[in-house]
Amino acid sequence: MDRDLSLQPRGPANRERLRAEAVALLMRAIVHDERGEPCGTVASTGDLESHYRNVWTRDNVAPMLYFMEDEPRLVRSFLEALMRRQSVDRRTLGLIPIGFSPQFNHTDLGGEEAIGAIYSIDSTLWFLILLGLHVETTRDLEWLQTHRRHVKTALGLLLSPRFDPLPLLAAPESVTEIDRPAGLHGYPLQLQVLLFLALRWSARLLRALDEPDQATVCDAEAEAIQSWINRWYWLDPDLLAERGDLPMEQYGAGNPNPFNLDYGRIRQATSWLKEGGFLAGTLRARHLDTRFWAFPNCLAAMSGIVSASRATAIMYLIRDRAPDLLGQMPLAVCWPELRGSRYQILMDSDPRGRPGVFHNGAYWPNILWAFVPTALLAGQRDLAENALELAARRLSPEWGEYYDRRGRIGKAARRHQTWSIAGFLLADRALGARPGIDGWQVRLTPREGW
Ligand code: GLC
Repeated sequence: MDRDLSLQPRGPANRERLRAEAVALLMRAIVHDERGEPCGTVASTGDLESHYRNVWTRDNVAPMLYFMEDEPRLVRSFLEALMRRQSVDRRTLGLIPIGFSPQFNHTDLGGEEAIGAIYSIDSTLWFLILLGLHVETTRDLEWLQTHRRHVKTALGLLLSPRFDPLPLLAAPESVTEIDRPAGLHGYPLQLQVLLFLALRWSARLLRALDEPDQATVCDAEAEAIQSWINRWYWLDPDLLAERGDLPMEQYGAGNPNPFNLDYGRIRQATSWLKEGGFLAGTLRARHLDTRFWAFPNCLAAMSGIVSASRATAIMYLIRDRAPDLLGQMPLAVCWPELRGSRYQILMDSDPRGRPGVFHNGAYWPNILWAFVPTALLAGQRDLAENALELAARRLSPEWGEYYDRRGRIGKAARRHQTWSIAGFLLADRALGARPGIDGWQVRLTPREGW
């Protein structure tokens, strides 16, 4: 049953009806600011009792990408709402909150409303990316000038000195959408990818603000991050064979193995890797996370952090392991999931993260918005169509937050989860756009020439 995943769609679901349902639900998720302006979407309209009734910064990425061209006023109000709530505290100066709730006049800077005092680094990075896309879409440089201070203070956080000479951003657990322990501390891939994109957009914005010197600094940082990602996170069978004998316990300037990684163990842990390649989930001294994390891999591929051939290799891996990675409701957030003693130690036996549940290997339809364009760019249209078809068969009427491998809504998953809805709409739109003819694809990097 689990392996019921032929790559042939079994007949079109009623896409038109689904689209209309999704758009109506997305509209229902919009909330208004103090001035009565629409300013963002709540995380879920199926749960008005918990912190899911808030406007979460990261949960608004897919909706804002969806509205970017046609509803610039909404995107602008969302960005302004974030800027009004940007931290002015000495320790967190420039930080963009994890979320807010206009109805309750509430700003959640440190995840204090969520379970456990988590904070978020990704909000500030997504803010710069969305702001860049909005300015590029509207070409409203006057508006950008007015908000210059907010861009500069957010950027100040990214470029401030820290206890680390590497261009990569070190972070504890739980600072991105994976906001429970998952063994991702160190230099998590997701953060490096978002940092690269945020720096690219910052460089573009700084040039528009007539600050070419700082823009050059941002571009240089972005390039350095890209090169570290490609050198130390990438795994494929050839590279693993080549690094077979990389010496360990070395020191000094010419050390060929600066993280002291044991490639023998890495090869064992990735014995399932037969086709293609991928970027590892995190890196730290003596450790490389060898799980495949779908979202940051797709983001890295669609934004050109890895070469076109590596982007294609990521798709080959997904195709090769389709029953595990796509399941019956695309896509597995990570694979393989942590089990046994690794689950006990790295996740402290978190009941919310049992194997196959929530961030420990459940299937999240919101990832579709990054997966579909990546598959299309890599020339894997049938894989993208098949994934969307699977999702289309099961999403309505629940539009769940996450699913199990067989496509049943996940344990304690929210219903009418906004990013699942917007993720479907974006993926559907990307599939409908003809390459080079229809303008609108999901795009995360600046265009040339403005
Ligand atoms: C959960 C998820 C997080 C998401 C939030 C709102 O906390 O782990 O990624 O942003 O819900 O949907």
